[in-house]
Amino acid sequence: MNAPDLVEIRPFTMDDISAAYQLWQGSAGVGLSGADEPPAISAFLQRNPGCSFVAVAAPDRLAGTILCGHDGRRGYLYHLAVAPAHRRQGIATELVQRSLSALAVAGIQKCHLFIFHENETGLAFWQAIGWTLRHDIQIMSHHIELAVT
Ligand SMILES: CC(C)(COP(=O)(O)OP(=O)(O)OC[C@H]1O[C@@H](n2cnc3c(N)ncnc32)[C@H](O)[C@@H]1OP(=O)(O)O)[C@@H](O)C(=O)NCCC(=O)NCCS
Repeated sequence: MNAPDLVEIRPFTMDDISAAYQLWQGSAGVGLSGADEPPAISAFLQRNPGCSFVAVAAPDRLAGTILCGHDGRRGYLYHLAVAPAHRRQGIATELVQRSLSALAVAGIQKCHLFIFHENETGLAFWQAIGWTLRHDIQIMSHHIELAVT
């Protein structure tokens, strides 16, 4: 299904960060950390130009977001979220497609994402649009202390 006409999909800009953070805070399934503070999101957008998108409903109301980047080898998606009033209208599907198209232009052939075990809605969505749940991989993480300059 295509996104309805009243919702515009456009690139995620610095001016969207504040509204996006509010949407993420209200979205079960989106995990937030220090990496989501405005300076960090701003740095992410600058490092991955043209890959992240927002859905905007008239009049200028944020209806959805997706963050996307790549490391030159694989793509990664973060913070796909659609406001409850706008769900089941194809908006997330369109946001994902826009980000994958941007990755394709950059020559990236595979994209990954992280999803919480208990996020049944998210899992249903990703499987509905053809993504595969991996059972052969686990994630390991390590915290890095930043040097104070
Ligand atoms: C997951 C989420 C982004 C989906 O957004 P959306 O715009 O409603 O998704 P779409 O309309 O593009 O849905 C496409 C298909 O996914 C499936 N789907 C979407 N939401 C679903 C749900 N709640 N239950 C079951 N299937 C669902 C359906 O097959 C749907 O097609 P259909 O509406 O024709 O049946 C939205 O529910 C959300 O923001 N959830 C909270 C944040 C989150 O969990 N994000 C994912 C983090 S990994």
